[in-house]
Amino acid sequence: KSLVVLVSGNGSNLQAILDQIELGKINGKVSAVIANKESAYGLTRAKNANIPAIFIDHKGFDSRQEYDQKLMQTINQYQPDLIVLAGFMRILTPVFVEHYLGRMLNIHPSLLPKYKGLDTHQRAIDAKDKEHGASVHFVTPELDGGPVVLQSKVPIFAEQETDELAQRVQEQERKMYPLVINWFCTNRLKMVNNKAVLDDKEL
Ligand code: GRF
Repeated sequence: KSLVVLVSGNGSNLQAILDQIELGKINGKVSAVIANKESAYGLTRAKNANIPAIFIDHKGFDSRQEYDQKLMQTINQYQPDLIVLAGFMRILTPVFVEHYLGRMLNIHPSLLPKYKGLDTHQRAIDAKDKEHGASVHFVTPELDGGPVVLQSKVPIFAEQETDELAQRVQEQERKMYPLVINWFCTNRLKMVNNKAVLDDKEL
């Protein structure tokens, strides 16, 4: 299968995906990496792996619709089977999301439906939660609200530092995202009627 990965930052999830492809653990290839930030280190990771690394600046577009139109045109040149959001920090328009419905995954650093949006680690600490984690979900027009495929939990220890918690969550992310992507690439994972389905069983 052909994957297009969208990033805005470091790209540690992208790196985990590239590493697992290299090891033969994902039945697919990354055809392109696209960023909305020129400084995104994920672009460097793509170049290092000889993968097209494309920066699309929001400057020069009058609206979100126009930006997403350009993004869609660029993505479609690579004829991807799956769009992977890996730390892509830009809200996508409903038209864009509908176009890739059932073919776009995101990873979010919380145990959804808890803590949609930003600052999830701090919010979990402030709420004195005992556990935190990450979720992989299909992307639907509701922000961070699409059907969850897999979650990974980590304990929150007393006096937990936010950075340290974030690191432990991200360690889990790098394990779980390649696994879920391979489920999709081997036709085991689908979205049916707004539900995630693995091996014909609703999740
Ligand atoms: C991850 O924590 C992911 O859950 C969130 O953004 C972060 C991206 O990290 N959506 P990286 O760019 O993959 O290193």
